[in-house]
Amino acid sequence: MEHALGQEFVSVVEKAAIACAHTMGLGDRRYSDQVATESMRKALHEIPMDGTIVIGEGERDEAPMLFIGEKVGDTSGSTGVPVVDIAVDPLEGTNLCATGANNAIAVIAASDQGGLLHAPDCYMEKIIVGPSSRGAIDIDAPVKQNLKAIAKRLDRGVDDLVVIVLDRPRHAELIKEIRQAGARIRLIGDGDLSAGISAAVVGTGVHAVMGTGGAPEGVLTAAALRCLNGEMQARLVVAKPDQEKRLKDMGVEDLKKVYTTEELAPGDRMIFAACGVTDGTLLKGVRFFGGGARTHTLIMTLQSRKARFIDTVHLERRPDFKVRF
Ligand code: FBP
Repeated sequence: MEHALGQEFVSVVEKAAIACAHTMGLGDRRYSDQVATESMRKALHEIPMDGTIVIGEGERDEAPMLFIGEKVGDTSGSTGVPVVDIAVDPLEGTNLCATGANNAIAVIAASDQGGLLHAPDCYMEKIIVGPSSRGAIDIDAPVKQNLKAIAKRLDRGVDDLVVIVLDRPRHAELIKEIRQAGARIRLIGDGDLSAGISAAVVGTGVHAVMGTGGAPEGVLTAAALRCLNGEMQARLVVAKPDQEKRLKDMGVEDLKKVYTTEELAPGDRMIFAACGVTDGTLLKGVRFFGGGARTHTLIMTLQSRKARFIDTVHLERRPDFKVRF
């Protein structure tokens, strides 16, 4: 599965990123998202596989494309195509793309059936760290205690840590506690998924992500963390009365349950691919030039233990095409 689909998924995220990068700065987040979603859906339908969207653009009645439960892939050819569950975020950071801000990415993850938690479209409380801090965090511990434990594992002082937090009023108390503990904070407007990936890649200067963001982004982050040997702990957050019923209908009995990385993305085989839309901490954004575009993609596979950064030049069919170093 990883071998058969890995390269295909690189192409899927590249196409989505190129499509929505054309809308960068237009100030229309819905349009940017629509363009990315249409492109990703079209690309997915060309791949020989029997795919089911388990994390997508929303429920069937609210999302016209890539909705939860939608079947994707081309099953018309030979038998024996891979049967996979798929999580997508065609444009993570719709506002970031619409305003030309950093860290917008196009993302997909896939696993065998049941390999990704079918999380509803609600909020999720998260704490995310890289491989060095695995086993050192506890979502229920005081912020100060978690930061001390992370600093110890990274062999540095708490004041050397950088924690990423979504800049939201709901995080006022969390931000206060991180400041009191002495760690540095990077407040971001959007994009806790790309932040979570960065926290698990050594050298990005990001040591942890804390706070509440989207649950779908949480499952995608967990898929990436499985491939990067990072750790995440999470808890679904019921913000509206109808969400409680929805969660119960989806089989979530314990609404206070703390999910581990392995519970969010339990599959033994996992593919995760992300392509930069705008420039970011980990990935460059799409660059257009006269004869084509250049993309920067991260593709990771769990079982075959590969993490590849792919720099691709997409050339138009022109007689004067040029590839630059
Ligand atoms: P979109 O890509 O849908 O715009 O989501 C961006 C994002 O910032 C996520 O990274 C994050 O998990 C979520 O939104 C936070 O939600 P909210 O903006 O409601 O706080």
